[in-house]
Amino acid sequence: ARHLLSAADLDLAGAVHVLDTAERLAQAIAGREVPKLPTLRGRTVVNLFFEDSTRTRISFELAAKRLSADVINFSAKGSSVSKGESLKDTALTLQAMGADAVVCRHPSSGAPHRLARWVDGHVVNAGDGTHEHPTQALLDAFTLRRHLAPGVTGRSGLEDRTVVVVGDVLHSRVARSNVLLLSTLGARVVLVAPPTLLPRGFEHWPVEVTYDLDAAVRRADAVMMLRVQRERMEGAFFPTPREYTRHFGLDERRRALLPEHGVVLHPGPMNRGVEITPQVADGNGSVIVEQVANGVLVRMAVLYLLLTGGLDGAR
Ligand code: CP
Repeated sequence: ARHLLSAADLDLAGAVHVLDTAERLAQAIAGREVPKLPTLRGRTVVNLFFEDSTRTRISFELAAKRLSADVINFSAKGSSVSKGESLKDTALTLQAMGADAVVCRHPSSGAPHRLARWVDGHVVNAGDGTHEHPTQALLDAFTLRRHLAPGVTGRSGLEDRTVVVVGDVLHSRVARSNVLLLSTLGARVVLVAPPTLLPRGFEHWPVEVTYDLDAAVRRADAVMMLRVQRERMEGAFFPTPREYTRHFGLDERRRALLPEHGVVLHPGPMNRGVEITPQVADGNGSVIVEQVANGVLVRMAVLYLLLTGGLDGAR
C-alpha cells in the first residue's frame, strides 16, 4: 500500500507487520535518554486537520518527531481555507512544498482519497467523516493484542477473540475501521446498537448484531464503547439519552459481567455518564489511557513503513 486510507488497505500480513513494527519501535526507544530515532531525518510530515482532534493530531505529531521528521501542523482554522481555498489548492500547495507524507482529517467521507490523487506524498487517513479511521483501528488492535495475547508477534494473536462494539455505529468511522481490521485479524466482532444507530447495509458486514448488551458482555474478550456523536445527528436522538444509557451504556454492573481477562476500550473523546460511567472509564480493565499511549507507537510504525516502502507488498 502506498497510502493508508482504509483498514482494508492492509491484508493480514500487512496488518501484523504494522503491529510488529510498533512493538519493535517501542523496544528501540525504551530506555533511551531521548526517545527518538533518526529514521525519518530530512523527511517532512504535514498534519492537515480540517476537523477538531486532540489524540490523533498530537500523537501523529509526536510520532513524526520521535522519528526525527520535520513536522508541519496545518489546521483549517486560521488558514486560507477560511477564505474559500479548496482542498485541491491546499493539496497543491503542500505538494509544492515537498511534503513526504500528509496526514489528513476531514469532515467529508472520502476527502483523503481525493487528496491522494493530487499529491505525490503518502496520505494517511486520520479520520474522514463517518467513513474510516484506520490508525485508530490499528492502535486498538495493538492494545488488544498486548492484553489478550501478550508477547505474541508474527501473527495476529486475536484469532477467534470476541470484540463487542457498542453504541453509535451509524456515525462511527472507528467502528467501520475496526470491523474491517478485526475481521482481517481473525477476531469475531459483535455489534450492539439501537436499530436507529446502525448504518444501512450492516447486514453485509462480517459481524454479528444483537440488542442484548448484557449477554454480549458475558462472552466478550473486549468491549469497545463508542461515543454518541450528537454533532452528527440531525434533530432528536432516539432512543432518548436516558434510554440509551440504560440499554447501551457501560456501568459497573455490566462491567462485572465481563470475563476476568476482559478489557474495556473507548477511542475518546468520551461522553462520561452517557455511553460509559466514570467508574468504568477509570476502573479495572479499562485500557483507555493505554490506547492513547499506543497511538503514538502505531502511528510511528505507519509513518515509518509508508515512508520506507515497508508496506509496498501489502495489498
Ligand atoms: N479517537 C480520536 O480520533 O480522538 P480525536 O478526535 O481526539 O483525535
